[in-house]
Amino acid sequence: MRYAKRWTLLLGVVLLSMVGSAMAQEVVKLGLIAEFSGPFAQYGQQMLGGMKAYLKVHGDTVAGKKVEIVQRDTGGPAPEVAKRLAQELVTRENVDILVGFGLTPNALAVAPVASEAKKAMVIMNAATSIITTKSPYIVRVSMTLPQVTQPMAVWAARNGIKKVYTVVADYGPGLDAEKAFGEAFKAAGGEIVGGVHTPLQNPDFAPFIQRVKDAKPEAVFLFLPAGEQGIAFMKGYEERGLKQAGIRLIATGDITDDGVLEAMGEPTLGLITSFHYSAAHESVENAAFKKAYAEVNGDKLRPNFMAVAGYDGMAVIYDALQKTGGSSDGDKLVAAMKGLRLNSPRGPILIDPETRDVVQTVYIRKVEKTPGGLYNVEFDKFPEQKDPGK
Ligand code: PHB
Repeated sequence: MRYAKRWTLLLGVVLLSMVGSAMAQEVVKLGLIAEFSGPFAQYGQQMLGGMKAYLKVHGDTVAGKKVEIVQRDTGGPAPEVAKRLAQELVTRENVDILVGFGLTPNALAVAPVASEAKKAMVIMNAATSIITTKSPYIVRVSMTLPQVTQPMAVWAARNGIKKVYTVVADYGPGLDAEKAFGEAFKAAGGEIVGGVHTPLQNPDFAPFIQRVKDAKPEAVFLFLPAGEQGIAFMKGYEERGLKQAGIRLIATGDITDDGVLEAMGEPTLGLITSFHYSAAHESVENAAFKKAYAEVNGDKLRPNFMAVAGYDGMAVIYDALQKTGGSSDGDKLVAAMKGLRLNSPRGPILIDPETRDVVQTVYIRKVEKTPGGLYNVEFDKFPEQKDPGK
């Protein structure tokens, strides 16, 4: 009798611990590392907003597992902080997948952590071309700067612009944009008459804008990281009378980011940019995305390309988890993500099985005043664009 009691007790303990570990396995933890404070705070907000919109539409369970997000703030471009946060998330929080990464230096710093821990790392913005080559565990759902820049150069050359001055932020994506624009523009018969690099932190654009004015190009090609810098640049462009001097502005769509376009106001009217996402994109998928985004995040902040990358990043993770039967093993997840196709709010996308970068349509857009406010209205497109350097 005493033995029977003991056995029952033991069996109970064994069963409980089995149930306990089964329950522990039923969670997939996403470690979101992004910029949630400082001048780039909207990056984290937009990505998380897009991720939440996906959860709203598709629920928080996939392949029998509950999805949990653990978020961490890098506070801006801070590679050491990003690396430490990634290490902590992997070792202490046991996250299964690393996601987020607005700024290139933060993504680059975390790449070796993903490799060492063998965790899938889904990039929702950082757009310097080389990032995906830094770890076989990286999959990028956003864009690369050469990918979105090249169509702008081709379009400009086709539309009578012959002399361009380039202004780019002085770090990875800016240098990528400068190179991609120069190569494609010269190949199409154009001439680059000069260029400057502006600092990533606290730039004062006035002296750079004056240099552009003095060089008298037909147009200036601009890349700045999305957000507040665009507002400051447009103010200087207006104040120094570049438009009146007949100098056109062309750029990647980072500058007319949907999250700040209204704040930039009327000076942006007519501005032509190339990009993979506009909130004004007309499709069933985009309408559903914007509705869910507003429901979860309110309607103060208009979703931009980073929000879409957050949403699509979740879609890629859900599809891959379904394929692996819920396993979050890094090798299995990345294998499942390769070749994946989605109907994104931006249009059709493919995760290139060779590069783990996204293949997508790049649109040429013009800022227009619509009944709903200022929007990037798409009027031309370059389908199935890859990073031209890969
Ligand atoms: C980047 O740091 O890779 C980056 C940041 C903002 C952008 C584009 C690229 O708008």
